[in-house]
Amino acid sequence: MSLAYPATTDDWQRLAQRRLPRFYADYIDGGAGAERTLAANVQAFAALRLRQRVLVDVAQVSTRARLAGEDCALPLALAPVGLAGMAAARGEVQAARAAQAAGVPFTLSTVGICPLGEVASAVQAPFWFQLYMLRERGAVQALLQDAWASGCRTLVFTVDLPVTGLRWRDVRHGLADGGARAALIKAWQVLARPGWVRRVALGGKPLTFGNLAAQVPGARDLNAFRAWVDAQFDPSVTWQDIAWLRQQWKGRLLLKGILTAEDAQAAVDAGADGVVVSNHGGRQLDSAPATASVLPAIAQAVGSRTELLVDGGIRSGVDVFKALALGAHGVLIGRPWVWALAAGGEAGVARLLAHWQRELRTTMMLTGVRRTADINASHLERFS
Ligand code: FNR
Repeated sequence: MSLAYPATTDDWQRLAQRRLPRFYADYIDGGAGAERTLAANVQAFAALRLRQRVLVDVAQVSTRARLAGEDCALPLALAPVGLAGMAAARGEVQAARAAQAAGVPFTLSTVGICPLGEVASAVQAPFWFQLYMLRERGAVQALLQDAWASGCRTLVFTVDLPVTGLRWRDVRHGLADGGARAALIKAWQVLARPGWVRRVALGGKPLTFGNLAAQVPGARDLNAFRAWVDAQFDPSVTWQDIAWLRQQWKGRLLLKGILTAEDAQAAVDAGADGVVVSNHGGRQLDSAPATASVLPAIAQAVGSRTELLVDGGIRSGVDVFKALALGAHGVLIGRPWVWALAAGGEAGVARLLAHWQRELRTTMMLTGVRRTADINASHLERFS
């Protein structure tokens, strides 16, 4: 198949796989364990069926929505993805620019490649910052100050990583536990992709580890970085720390990685402004449920009192519609934007977002909905 004009998310994934070294493509694509949750996420959205409605006046349809108090062109934000900036030169800057042009928020990961200041100086629109709790709370405070000074007003605090999930693809490439043979295999994969080396390592600056660069010893090496990150992530974090965080951060606070109605309720009680129903794209607890399957119960429990976002397995504008029909106010997308970035840089992400918007608009017209706020469960076909 010709991929001169990539159209779907699958096209972008295939193009990205051609361009990236295996270890990095597997790092992006992979999930935890047997990748059951990773597969279930995609299947759960794919399996839903929509109710077509006819003879409704859909001459005026708007895909706009409010997310975290911001007016957005689509009910969608780019999810935080660690090391995404290696997919293209200064990758997070390119993605943030594309998101700004498309009118949707971009989220910078704690473990991004480009630092906060670099992203801030490349865009005018405010972007979101994602935080992992570090053992050194002083470093957390410094990150929060940096984020605020960089114009971030929404903090996405990720709560599903007391320990990094067991991602066997990374282990096979020696990313998770190193070793001389693994380093050789990786070096060989990298050298087999001179274009990737040119774009990434030589794309203006040498490889650095963004917001954590100052803190990571030997920050040029992926394994050293990974080891430091694993040692810094704090598995003793509890709801009390959310109270501390709430005091530290004046902006909006979203808790990401919620999968039960009880935890969603606790998040609201702890003062969060919203929750992201997420299983980290199937990268943490393998055999956790697909997000689409737990979303309705969580929406019923807290949807009228808090902002409800969802991610995991959303692969098209049609899936965005389905997420809203299940009760979400908006979605985050992870791998799709990184694949488009790897394959087409800023223009790739822009094209991906434009296609998703067309898909959402078309889906709304064919289901007879004019405003995203009107998408609800009545648009889903019930089989039982
Ligand atoms: C992630 N995700 C993630 N989440 C987070 O809060 N901080 C992070 O640094 C990362 N890093 C990361 C790296 C990679 C390679 C992936 C694929 C994902 C999870 C991400 O924000 C999001 O929850 C999922 O990617 C959503 O699933 P989809 O859209 O990829 O199916």
